[in-house]
Amino acid sequence: MRIIRTKDYDDMSRKAANIIASQIVLKPDCVLGLATGSTPIGTYKNLVAAYENGDLDFSAVKSVNLDEYRGLPRENDQSYFYFMHDNLFKHVNIDLANTHLPDGTEPDSDKACTEYEAIIDSVGGQDLQLLGLGHNGHIGFNEPNDEFDKLTHCVDLQESTIEANKRFFASVDDVPKQAYTMGIGTIMKAKKILVVVSGADKAQIVKDAFFGPVTPRVPASILQFHPDVTVVADEAALSLVK
Ligand code: F6R
Repeated sequence: MRIIRTKDYDDMSRKAANIIASQIVLKPDCVLGLATGSTPIGTYKNLVAAYENGDLDFSAVKSVNLDEYRGLPRENDQSYFYFMHDNLFKHVNIDLANTHLPDGTEPDSDKACTEYEAIIDSVGGQDLQLLGLGHNGHIGFNEPNDEFDKLTHCVDLQESTIEANKRFFASVDDVPKQAYTMGIGTIMKAKKILVVVSGADKAQIVKDAFFGPVTPRVPASILQFHPDVTVVADEAALSLVK
């Protein structure tokens, strides 16, 4: 595991974008595993800027996202489909037919998850998987558990997540209660993994996940067993690590 220590969020975003950009330059038809959340927004901004400068070409790039809420229409501005379009896809020359997220509008969760695993396999798996890190060590929607979930599956959102999300919806009843997410096994199959982390509020989980024991109680700790992981984290997030 390589740890790249950056000055701050902007520095983290630039360095993470450089890693993704070199992946695209070296393999123009690469498969990028993508994440939502607040941490990668700056990374996506830098990728858009590189595209606008003429330094990046997304025309052959394929993407698979980590997760999606179950039951939210794509046009809902809280869907991850919407997020990806808003933050990246609509700003670059990626072919939308090559972009994939779990189908949150598919009510049959077995079907949605089986089909999504098949899509990931059919594009050849992720060359580079981008991840954010949850405060409890979750990656994707893989929450602390007694075991590592292997494949794409449907998760019940924790009460705390529903509570935290309700500010984005008209009422708590509108907040999705479930999501489809790549499993830990799906994530671990990626050839390379890039984790972005920022802020003092993530310092304890950075220490636990990357320097503590490997346990499904801290799902991101499994990344210690992956042969090619780069963590790009700012000083605040690394403040508890030497
Ligand atoms: C996003 C995702 C989540 C986030 C994590 C960190 O697709 O699956 O695991 O990466 O919750 O979120 P932020 O970056 O908002 O702290």
